[in-house]
Amino acid sequence: MSKQFLITTAIDYANGSPHIGHAYEKILTDVIARHKRLSGVSVQFITGLDEHGQKVQMSAEKQGVEPIEICDVLAVEFQSLCKRLNVSNNDYIRTTETRHKKVVQSVLQQLFDQGQIYKADYNGFYSIRQEQFVTEKERENGAWSEIYGEVIEVTESNYFFKLSQYQDWLIDFIKSNESVIYPRFRSADVLNFLKEPLNDLCISRPKERLSWGIELPFDSGFVTYVWFDALVNYITASGYGSETFKENWPADYHVIGKDILSPPHAVYWPIMLKALGLEMPKHFLVHGWWLSSGSKMSKSDGHVVNPLDLIDTYGPDAFRYFVIREMNVGQDSEFSLDLFQSRYNSDLANDLGNLVSRLLNMGQRFADGTIPKSSIKEAEELTVLAHWSELKDRIFDLYENFQFHKALELTFAFIAELNRYTELRAPWKLAKSEFEEDKQRLATTLAYMSEGLRLSAVILSPVMPDIAAKVLKLLDAEPINAYEGQLEWGDSLAGGSFGEKMILFPKNEA
Ligand code: ME8
Ligand code: MG
Repeated sequence: MSKQFLITTAIDYANGSPHIGHAYEKILTDVIARHKRLSGVSVQFITGLDEHGQKVQMSAEKQGVEPIEICDVLAVEFQSLCKRLNVSNNDYIRTTETRHKKVVQSVLQQLFDQGQIYKADYNGFYSIRQEQFVTEKERENGAWSEIYGEVIEVTESNYFFKLSQYQDWLIDFIKSNESVIYPRFRSADVLNFLKEPLNDLCISRPKERLSWGIELPFDSGFVTYVWFDALVNYITASGYGSETFKENWPADYHVIGKDILSPPHAVYWPIMLKALGLEMPKHFLVHGWWLSSGSKMSKSDGHVVNPLDLIDTYGPDAFRYFVIREMNVGQDSEFSLDLFQSRYNSDLANDLGNLVSRLLNMGQRFADGTIPKSSIKEAEELTVLAHWSELKDRIFDLYENFQFHKALELTFAFIAELNRYTELRAPWKLAKSEFEEDKQRLATTLAYMSEGLRLSAVILSPVMPDIAAKVLKLLDAEPINAYEGQLEWGDSLAGGSFGEKMILFPKNEA
């Protein structure tokens, strides 16, 4: 079997419920995965849960339960979020699974045997919140920066991974592979970080301080540092150690948020892979953050809205549409309920929803429920055709280049064009005319609305898979499984039956 397109999300921390950031990252990755599949590429899409570490152990202690009990509950919550959002992942990896422990231990043993891991005494400062050692560099005017939370002084023996010997190689790798980090400006952050000499990475935690982790294969007094454990998930889920690994690895895209690019993904991970003799991931796709100021998240009655509740109120596709339409991949975006409702009402309910309900309505009234064939091509039709032929390649390219917000903007410009065309033709007037030409115009208008809608559904399907499938069913069209042959204007719908009138996007005041 040839190499699959491998795309991954970060694995979420099992120390709290899912939020809009987690949802967004999965949707973004899912849009890419679905777009690739429709382009004829075989895709492996992996997501999962990061379950070890100090924070999970501490919440378990606080609640008086075992850490695994917390993880089991959250695994259900995160997986059900994926289902609610219609995320098409092929695998879901939990770092407490046996398959993962085996890979982490085999990787550690290999590096230990190669002399890349050594034991040393360490005295220093440790941030519990960030689960990392901090050095004087991170101290400003005697105080640790806010982001480190409580910092404690510790003296202990630990195991270290020789990161520093690969520093020059890594700088060279990043400089000579300009497209490895998207957006490119984020490479600068990494190269900046690499200006200072790298410290070797402490990859162990003594069990008396932290027991919730994967035991080191060469010293049972220690567990593995959670980031080392978590990063390895990508190769575990790719089938490391089995035949399937070479069908998957290297990853084509690791999709991650901007907070975990440097150092974990852009420094630790490439060096770990290099030391193991494995290929580098091809790209990191680094997205920005959803921000929310309390007031914008509040309803007028003062209740705070959890954005994830909108999935149940408005349906998964409205939520997917909103986050993909609003976020310019790589930048931050402010979440606002007002904006969500205005997008829902104007783009989805009015522009797309109205086009569908109008068409179905007129199809029953003026064409006995059968999709007509177009027979004339006047200025009105030529404008629609020109618009589509100009847009379709641009939209495709925008998808390829992660400019999803623009791709959706153009798609909805086309939907607006179809609505304008409908107004211009005014089928309700044509239906009253006795002239043969007007009958043909009427048939053509319904055929054009149908075909335009079909094409919109095909191009929207990576973002709105459910809605696209519904629209195609209402047009008596085949379900989409490839773009090929589906993105050309044609008359494949003629002779099919219009579905029963339905409201795709009910007006719903949350
Ligand atoms: O970092 N907006 O897990 P995590 C957008 N377990 N994205 C956000 C966000 C926001 N407001 N908040 C978080 C971890 N994210 C590690 C990853 S990978 C081997 C281990 C993103 O649950 C964040 O940037 O804190 C990250 O990509 C993902 O959600 C999981 O964050
Ligand atoms: Mg985080």
